[in-house]
Amino acid sequence: MRILVVHGPNLDLLGTREPEVYGTTDLATINRELKAIAAQRGVTLEFVQSNHEGELVDAIGSSRGRIDAIVINPAAYTHTSVAIRDAIAAAGVPAVEVHLTNIYAREAFRQHSVIAPVCKGQVSGFGPESYRLGLEAAMTLAAPNRRPRKTRA
Ligand code: DQA
Repeated sequence: MRILVVHGPNLDLLGTREPEVYGTTDLATINRELKAIAAQRGVTLEFVQSNHEGELVDAIGSSRGRIDAIVINPAAYTHTSVAIRDAIAAAGVPAVEVHLTNIYAREAFRQHSVIAPVCKGQVSGFGPESYRLGLEAAMTLAAPNRRPRKTRA
């Protein structure tokens, strides 16, 4: 199983960026922890971080037929990017949207996600734990035997 973890703009600055809002954990630490969780399950992770919308679109586009699920924090593009939304829909790969902060408890312009409708679900507000929960959800979505077992009569 192969999962793509996508980090949007300014998330490369985690750790020093507005620590009172986003905490002090840096992106390398988050990625390392995700990798450790995935390794325990025999899951391979790929990571991409970009400040450029087109690069994120390309990364999502190249996941089609190759990647089993996507975990994405689109960051500021959450609120604006029809291009990223369309890329997820076009790829046909199940995606989980994650946010460190609770976007619904913040400024009005952050309270709407244009990405959420093309994702299977969203985790918002738990700091780095949002990524861990998002990865759990993605691994469940991607699991080949996720249909409920038939119970014996
Ligand atoms: C964010 C929330 C966005 O509104 C913001 O632009 C970010 C980070 C989060 O993880 O809480 O860059 O996606």
